[in-house]
Formats: sequence, C-alpha cells, structure tokens
Amino acid sequence: MTTQEQIQRRRTFAIISHPDAGKTTLTEKFLLYGGAIQSAGTVKGKASDRHATSDWMDLEKQRGISITSSVMQFEYEGFCINILDTPGHQDFSEDTYRTLMAADSAVMVIDAAKGIEPQTRKLFRVCAMRGIPIFTFINKLDREARDPFDLIDELEKEFGIGTYPMNWPIGCGRDFKGVYDREKRRILAFDEFHAGRRKIESIDVELSDTEKLDELIGERARAELCEQVELLDAASFDFDMEKVRTGKLSPVFFGSALNNFGVEAFLEQFLKMTSAPLSHKAGEREISPFDTHFSAFVFKIQANMNKMHRDRIAFLRICSGKFERGDEYYHMRQGKSIKLAQPQQLMAQEREIIDEAYAGDIIGVFDPGIFSIGDTVCDASDKVQFEGIPTFAPEHFAEVEQIDSMKRKQFQKGMEQIAEEGAIQIFFLPDAGYERVIVGVVGMLQYEVLEHRMKTEYGVTYRQRPLRYQLIRYVEDGSPDPKTLRLSRDTMWIKDVKGNDLLIFESEFDIRWALENNKELKLREFNK
Ligand code: G4P
Repeated sequence: MTTQEQIQRRRTFAIISHPDAGKTTLTEKFLLYGGAIQSAGTVKGKASDRHATSDWMDLEKQRGISITSSVMQFEYEGFCINILDTPGHQDFSEDTYRTLMAADSAVMVIDAAKGIEPQTRKLFRVCAMRGIPIFTFINKLDREARDPFDLIDELEKEFGIGTYPMNWPIGCGRDFKGVYDREKRRILAFDEFHAGRRKIESIDVELSDTEKLDELIGERARAELCEQVELLDAASFDFDMEKVRTGKLSPVFFGSALNNFGVEAFLEQFLKMTSAPLSHKAGEREISPFDTHFSAFVFKIQANMNKMHRDRIAFLRICSGKFERGDEYYHMRQGKSIKLAQPQQLMAQEREIIDEAYAGDIIGVFDPGIFSIGDTVCDASDKVQFEGIPTFAPEHFAEVEQIDSMKRKQFQKGMEQIAEEGAIQIFFLPDAGYERVIVGVVGMLQYEVLEHRMKTEYGVTYRQRPLRYQLIRYVEDGSPDPKTLRLSRDTMWIKDVKGNDLLIFESEFDIRWALENNKELKLREFNK
C-alpha cells in the first residue's frame, strides 16, 4: 500500500463523555468489531479490578482509576482507526483537553437518562473551539430514558449546534423495541439476547406498512414512531455534510453499547462521514497530511510509564507524511536533529515497538527530557512550526509551601519538571520565589498526583493550602500597574513563569467588581 493510501484510510478520533455514560463500553465494542480484542472486559475489567490492565502509575493502582489517557489503534473494514481515550474519572486533567488537540473528530457519548453532564460540557467546548466534527451516541436506551426530543433539544440549546438524528429510538427501557434508520427506512429490532452477536440484521420496512410494523413492534409503538418521525422530518435540521465537517451539525445515533445495539451501524456511518486526517496550520502554511515530508507535534508527555525505568514518553500526533524508525528528524525548538527512540504504539495498556507510522497516527517516543508540550518535530529538509497547544485555564488553585529548606533545589526542580510536562501550572506571588508557589490545576486529582510524585521522585514533602479561587485572567498590556489596582478580598494578583501578570478570582462577581473599580483594567481569558 502506498503512503497516500495508508493516510487516506486513517481515522483518528477522541471519545468523550461524562463518567459512566458508557465510553469504555462503546470503545470496547469498537475494538471487538475490529478484532483488536477477543472478549469484553479487556479494556477495563469489572468495577472491582478496573486497574488490572494498567501499571503506569502507582496512584492509578491505588485508586483503581485511569488517570492517563491512552491511544488505541485497530483495523476495521479497510480503515485504520486510532481512538484517543480520555480519562474516565471525574477528576480529569489538562491532558484530557490536550488529547482533543490530536483528534480529527470526536464521538460524544451521552447517557439517555441523564443528558448533558458537566464533563461533557467542558469537553464539548474544547471540540467546538477546534471546529472538529462531533458525533453523538445517545446510550443506554435499554434503560428508562428521557424523551428523545428533549435530549436533542438540550444538545442544540446548550451547545448552540444543530443536530441530525440518524436514527430514532422506538421506546426505551423495558419497552425498547429498537431504532428506526431514517435514511435506509429500516428497523433495527432490539433483542436483548443478541448481546455479543456480531451482526444484527435490519428489517426493511416502510412506515406506511402498518401491518408489518404492528407485527414487529406492536400497534402502540408503531403509532408513536410514525408520529415522531413525521414531526422529526418536519422540524429537524436538514442533513448538511459541510456543517457536519465543521462541527456545526452533530449526527445523533441512539443505541445501547452494553447490548452491542446500534454500535456497528454507528461505526459504519461514522466512518463514512469522517474524513482522512485533517490539515494543520503552521504559521502561513497549511500542512496537508499527504505532504511527503514528515511532521508531528507533541501533545502529551507521560512520566513514569514504567517505574522500573523512570522513563518519560512524549506522545506525538503525526500531521504529515510517514514516520520511519531509525530516521533522523528535526526538533524545531531545540534546533537540532534527533532520533526518535523506542517509537511505540499503544493498544490499551500494552506497548509495541513500531517501524513505521503515518499521518493521523499517534506514536509514543522515549523522552530523555528534551520535549515540551506543543513541540514540533519534522523533516530537516522542510522545516515547519505548528501553532502549539493552548494552555487551558486552571480551575483550582492551592498554595504550596516548601517546608524543608535543605531540599529547596529538589522542590524547585520537581515543580518545574512536572509543570513542564503540563500536569500542573505554577504561579508566583509577586516578588516571591519558589519557597511558596501557587499551583493551578484543571482537575483536583492532579494535587494528589503532584504530592505523590514529589515524594517518590524528588523526595520532597510540602505544605498545601487549598485556595478558593476558581477563575483566572491575564492582565492585558496597557492596564495599570497591578500594584495600584483596587481589588476585592476575593481577588489575588499572581505571576506566571514568564512574568506575565494574572488575577485569580473567586467568582464572576469579583471579575465584574475589579473591572468596575479599575476603569483602565483590561482582562483576557485563556485561549482568547
Ligand atoms: P465510562 O467509561 O463512560 O465511565 O462508562 P462505562 O463504559 O464504564 O459504563 C458505565 C456503566 O454503565 C457500566 O456499568 C456499564 O456496564 C454500564 N453501561 C454501559 N452501556 C450501557 C448500556 O447501553 N446499557 C446499560 N444498561 N448499561 C450500560 P457498571 O455496573 O458501573 O460497571 P461494570 O461492572 O459493568 O463494568
């Protein structure tokens, strides 16, 4: 197969959801179809031993949760699919957001009984910022669910996007009869005993064929379905592929991942609608995946993948061309040629050394401490610099104070390195140094990770005091000297590692107060 053909068949997507919506179950079914795993339970074991397949971090083991996002590759009907998994725990980190930077589209799993939940909301915003296509899988129709019109209405109103239901559920819970495929005008009948069977045959039926429908789903369900489909045809958005491609219209599918119901149909339609890897902006240039020169960027750095070796792995998303093991590539920030050592791909938690990879793929490479998030690696004969990865606004803050003055150096080194990996963000009180830092994180769990790593890797313990601030803004150039600002007690002035001035606030009210009381003050949000 040529490099072009290899790239053309790549599909790289992230799968996002609020914990418990069914992301792992759906991923597992995809992998089963692709033959990448032989039985369910391989990606995640039973609730009691969820950590069984992972030995990446001690903390993960202790908590029985997956902190780190992983990447899975599998083949399905000629496609080579890369799924980027995002941490399933409520306390996700910036890594979760960054993972979305490496995806070309996203699958959003929603629990039909719950609708949009907080984590879905946060992750959706990042997808929307990138304008990537978003496909919605409304899961758990085999249980009592909310009214489907209500659910799509919520998606449209909350997210400000259009939706296009590709299929429509027939009842739910005990009365779940299946789904009606709007395009093919077929019924996929639900039979709870088919779980695990590979293919469910759909039944062709016209909605006007009352007799056949009554036989299939019963008179009451038939009447309801006909009424709802009529309503849907009249009221829903028109299908528009261009809008799907730009993330403005989300195709919606109903199903039940646990029962393997609607998963295959979803995967097939999804693959049809998604495109080969997207181009990436590099300054004035737009780098096509089919460009013959290799280029990639680092979107995640994972320390301690293997405790025995104390290794760090940098994850790269390949943007163009082909990667070949042993070749030299150019590290733009460092301005030198390097060999990417131990290139590997991950299958769930197993790592495998690879010889080649293509645009769209994710590879992990050994990092002797030379990579930072956002770094570009490319072909020395065609240097490009990608736009980097945005820093996401921390949502929690704590004051961390070193207690052992003998370990000042280790404290600073640990804080710097862990911040460099992007696990935490560090800020300083004006005119203060490393003896007391403000640590900002996206997910609270990162505080535990930090404490654990500082202790085990740097031999440092410290005192930590949670702060009540939740919002952060840059002080824009041209604003008054922060020293002269009138600020409420619920606002604090801090600096980042580059010396930029920032303010942290407890609430939106405090932001308004600061702006009203300092007419010249200009604030800027992260990524704006
Ligand atoms: P997550 O990765 O999004 O956190 O969700 P996960 O797949 O782990 O699913 C959460 C729970 O919901 C699991 O049950 C799972 O079996 C169940 N589930 C997933 N899809 C469906 C579905 O279509 N119908 C129904 N009825 N349940 C579904 P659990 O009891 O919490 O865990 P487990 O012991 O089954 O692993």
